[in-house]
Amino acid sequence: MRVAIIGTGYVGLTTGVCLAFMGHTVSCLDSDEAKIKALWEGKIPIFEPFLEEVFHEALVNLTFTSTYAEAIPEAEVVFIAVGTPPTPSGAPNLEFLSQAARSIGQHITRDFVVVVNKSTVPIGSGNWVDSLLREAVASRADRSAVQFAVASNPEFLREGSALHDSLYPDRIVIGADEPRALEVLYTLYRPILDQTFTPPNFLPRPETVGAVPLLSTDLASAELIKYAANAFLALKISFINEIGLVAERVGANISEVGRGIGLDSRIGPRFLSAGIGWGGSCFGKDTAALIATAGEYGLHLPIVEAAKKINSRQRDRVVEKLLNELKILKGRTVGLLGLAFKPNTDDLREAPAIEIAQKLIDRGVRVKAHDPIAMEKFEQVYGKMGVQLCQNAEQVVEDCDAVVLVTEWNDYRELDWETLAKKMRAPLILDGRHTLDREKLTRAGVRYVSLS
Ligand code: UGA
Repeated sequence: MRVAIIGTGYVGLTTGVCLAFMGHTVSCLDSDEAKIKALWEGKIPIFEPFLEEVFHEALVNLTFTSTYAEAIPEAEVVFIAVGTPPTPSGAPNLEFLSQAARSIGQHITRDFVVVVNKSTVPIGSGNWVDSLLREAVASRADRSAVQFAVASNPEFLREGSALHDSLYPDRIVIGADEPRALEVLYTLYRPILDQTFTPPNFLPRPETVGAVPLLSTDLASAELIKYAANAFLALKISFINEIGLVAERVGANISEVGRGIGLDSRIGPRFLSAGIGWGGSCFGKDTAALIATAGEYGLHLPIVEAAKKINSRQRDRVVEKLLNELKILKGRTVGLLGLAFKPNTDDLREAPAIEIAQKLIDRGVRVKAHDPIAMEKFEQVYGKMGVQLCQNAEQVVEDCDAVVLVTEWNDYRELDWETLAKKMRAPLILDGRHTLDREKLTRAGVRYVSLS
């Protein structure tokens, strides 16, 4: 099938590359001409494991453009995957979405086109996009030839495992009020639903993956599924962090508590890792948007609100712990291991490291940091913050009064603490992710402290 994708961020680019890998002809559109030029040159603008490899395998089916007149007329399916950044009120900014809808309406030519909201958009956006498209089509002389339907196809991929999640998803959700739209998207996703594609050899199909469930709903339900899924995952993390507070007081081990409750199949083991809490562009934004939408209907969401508060408290607890250990923060040197909001990405949006670094700097602490991938981006965006970037973990720990493990990159699990401890002014590590081996560190003479 012929597909156009508007927006080449994480969601748009991964979707485009995977659909091209399935054999569809995909045109990726982005208003950022520099990005389009880079894509033509085979340069991927984000760090995402395997994206480059799948991109190169699918290249024969991919084109890139900044022009709607090039991407849209041939397309049978148009995905909108533009950014919806948060506004100060928590409601997302829909400017890019409305621009995309209007431009699509001006350029669709097929007798039936499915326009799919893939961006995370407020409930009701499907209807709104439909009306914007209708207005744009109505203003055209050739309007009678054009028919379209709007669908919602929320994305559940995680940064850092975006390709795995797209090729082997837990489910595909399609919200559409028009049955023909569902049929088109079913055909489009068939290789993934039936798992009939030949997997790339670097991303083999896990043995447990069989046919992927397709959930077909109305538009509003699909839109709400996305928000509810992210809110639930976010509150699962906040729940374990709240229990972590109790664990700390009673002397229980929160990792074991997490494992113990997660083995109950009704609860499930994932998203129960306690620590600094969630970051990234999705959980904070989507929980805020859900609260804002509920507010429009006069509703309060105390559970979601509490999840946000607990998450933000975890950042404060890092500073409290350091204060408790070091007694005086002013003039101290603290090293941060990890800047990205999670391992295997260079994404710094709402990364806990940024907030923690700022809180420490505000208290007169000298902050050093390292990240295996995200340092260049950090320098570009937060270069003026006053964090001293180091080439490796060894440089970070040198002359530190404490080191905080912020992001659980694999590289940090294998550090030689016997050697590192000797370089520190005081061998103290605050493990913000319950990821290091307490016994090994203690044997190496390091005082090990965790958040719970
Ligand atoms: C999240 C969802 O997991 C995806 O399903 C969704 O598609 C995506 O948002 C989105 O809406 O676009 P993502 O933000 O990429 O994906 O990353 P996650 O793996 O969910 O991690 C989010 C944050 O939670 C990270 O900072 C991570 O360190 C933290 N986390 C995760 C914990 O603190 N504890 C855990 O047990 C799991």
